[in-house]
Amino acid sequence: MTDRAAVILAAGHGTRMASPIPKVLHKVGGRALIDHAIDVAESLDAARIVVVLGAGAPQVSAHVAARLGAGAIAIQDPPLGTGHAVLAAKAALPGFQGEVVVMLADSALLTAEAVRPLFDLRAAGADVAVLGFHAADPVGYGRLIVTHGDRVVRIVEEREATAAERAVSACNSGVLAAPAPLLFELLGKVGRDNAKGEYYLTDVVGLAAKAGRSVRAAFAKEEVFQGVNSQAELAEAEAAFQRRRRLELMEAGVTLVAPQTVFLSWDTQLAPGVLVEPNVVFAPGVKVAPGAVIRSFSHLEGALVRGGAIVGPYARLRPGADIGEDAHIGNFVEVKKVKVGAGAKANHLTYLGDGSVGAGANIGAGTIFCNYDGFDKYETHVGEGAFIGSNTALVAPVSVGAGAYTGSG
Ligand code: UD1
Ligand code: CA
Repeated sequence: MTDRAAVILAAGHGTRMASPIPKVLHKVGGRALIDHAIDVAESLDAARIVVVLGAGAPQVSAHVAARLGAGAIAIQDPPLGTGHAVLAAKAALPGFQGEVVVMLADSALLTAEAVRPLFDLRAAGADVAVLGFHAADPVGYGRLIVTHGDRVVRIVEEREATAAERAVSACNSGVLAAPAPLLFELLGKVGRDNAKGEYYLTDVVGLAAKAGRSVRAAFAKEEVFQGVNSQAELAEAEAAFQRRRRLELMEAGVTLVAPQTVFLSWDTQLAPGVLVEPNVVFAPGVKVAPGAVIRSFSHLEGALVRGGAIVGPYARLRPGADIGEDAHIGNFVEVKKVKVGAGAKANHLTYLGDGSVGAGANIGAGTIFCNYDGFDKYETHVGEGAFIGSNTALVAPVSVGAGAYTGSG
């Protein structure tokens, strides 16, 4: 752990999402935007993380408190701009003398790798380090006014920019790093005499430069700063996230026959040598071991698929499904909270919920584990090598011994 604190700004209203769900609880890759931001802060070895929230966001507060504890939350009430938001975090960092890295909460594609060059600049003597990017279309962003390559003189917001400044393609990402005492001192001097009547965090850059401090910029790819402000941008961020995760998995040796039709979650683990056919959805919590094949039109969530197993086509694995080595789960088979032993087969039209299937067992078509009587749930256990005839309703709680045979119906 370093002497570093991350301050994540999330007190904005997210009005353009037009949704009763707070913006930062919307998900990309099955993970809330606020959690993506916290993931990055954690990867940056921040000893302290402070999330700045608005007063009217109880759902977000509860979400953040559940992960980081209530002490990680600073309330900005009312929200008067990004500079004002960072000042709101000061009370949550009493006496902190280390380095603060400020991040915005609405960029799901931001990575720790993109942020780390800021710390190199700081180590090389910069008082304030800001992260920028060159935008294909810079409209709406603050522009970095730079001299001598990477020396930043000030940041000008779109609304205050002159025509010449608007032609600048170097944009402010919103991420910056500075020592806490300097940052809070400069923020104390920021006013709100601007187009939005807000305290701009970006004004600290001009103030620092004027005071003779060294302000330097590092640049990263525009893609990592793609912000989410509307439902359409959320979908764009999701698409970009999917492209990135598919490429990462393919580079790591996973075969995706039609990558653009495979949907992944932030935590999907597919081992090298896994084959995924077209049109498969991996909801969160899935791990697939080497040599397994996931066939078309399958939906997996919270499931483990062991080596050599074949799942699908048209299979549904729900949380707690544990599919053993070389086992087969076929078409229209649903598995929930069941451990399926090595080499077992359930190939057609079956529900396996709550219990276990022993190694080498054969589950006939149309078998149902009747796990719920309308009040409580019960388990079904099928022993190793057992044979369940087609169209069998196993009314739980029930056990079938190893090697046993049941007739059809
Ligand atoms: C900001 C930057 C701009 C940069 C852009 C990058 C300022 C003044 N401008 O502009 O230079 O190019 O981000 O995307 O900093 N927030 C609060 N409290 C507030 C206001 C905002 O917590 O009072 C949070 C929001 O929830 C959001 C983030 O700060 O996560 C950015 O706020 P937003 O209003 O979207 O800033 P931009 O206008 O996009
Ligand atoms: Ca924004």
